[in-house]
Amino acid sequence: MPELTIAIAKGRLQAEALELFAKAGMPLSGDSESRCLARSDETGRSRYIFVKPSDVPVYVEHGVADCGLVGLDVLLEYQADVLQPLSLPIGRCQIVIAGPMNKQKNGYAMLRVATKYPHITSKHFGERGQPVEIIQLSGSVELAPGLGLADCIVDLVETGRTLRENGLRVMEVIAESTARLIVNRASYHLKAQTINGLIAALKKQTQAQGEA
Ligand code: PRP
Repeated sequence: MPELTIAIAKGRLQAEALELFAKAGMPLSGDSESRCLARSDETGRSRYIFVKPSDVPVYVEHGVADCGLVGLDVLLEYQADVLQPLSLPIGRCQIVIAGPMNKQKNGYAMLRVATKYPHITSKHFGERGQPVEIIQLSGSVELAPGLGLADCIVDLVETGRTLRENGLRVMEVIAESTARLIVNRASYHLKAQTINGLIAALKKQTQAQGEA
């Protein structure tokens, strides 16, 4: 039985995360093309599970995974009760408000904002006292302004290419996001030595990369 279970966000963060864990001495074992969603590392002491980004905090909060690797965007949106001992220099992106290149919102109608991040959006506009109508989508949010579903969007930008190719531009940066190591509260106490070893190895690796 592996000592540690680590939930990894599938998708944009996955390759960078596994590369970092490999450099920290925990390379994934077996076929790199495998679609198996639970796989152990080469030492057999850790098991990776691959889940949707928004599910990483769920697995960690419930203790099914001891640790997880996920973007700050997800943590801001879902607010799980987990420890966040380490910020990592991977998965760098921004959470932004973006809107059409050549269109100003006119009139006094309430701003309609399409997003996968309703909590971040309502908090951001709420803090400035601006009422908005939030239209929740689960992906391809950049389509919404062009098709008349929303006036603007709140979404992630990494390279900016999706915005550009859909006729949108950044209007405001809400937050910078990078990956975070999150840890289940009970695991942190029960497996203190192993988890502190993992934190130290990841820290050492990211410092070495920073100095390279
Ligand atoms: C994310 C995000 C943008 C895109 C930004 O979507 O929601 O759509 O990536 O990346 P870029 O700035 O490098 O173009 P994701 O790929 O996670 O898919 P989704 O739209 O289905 O959520």
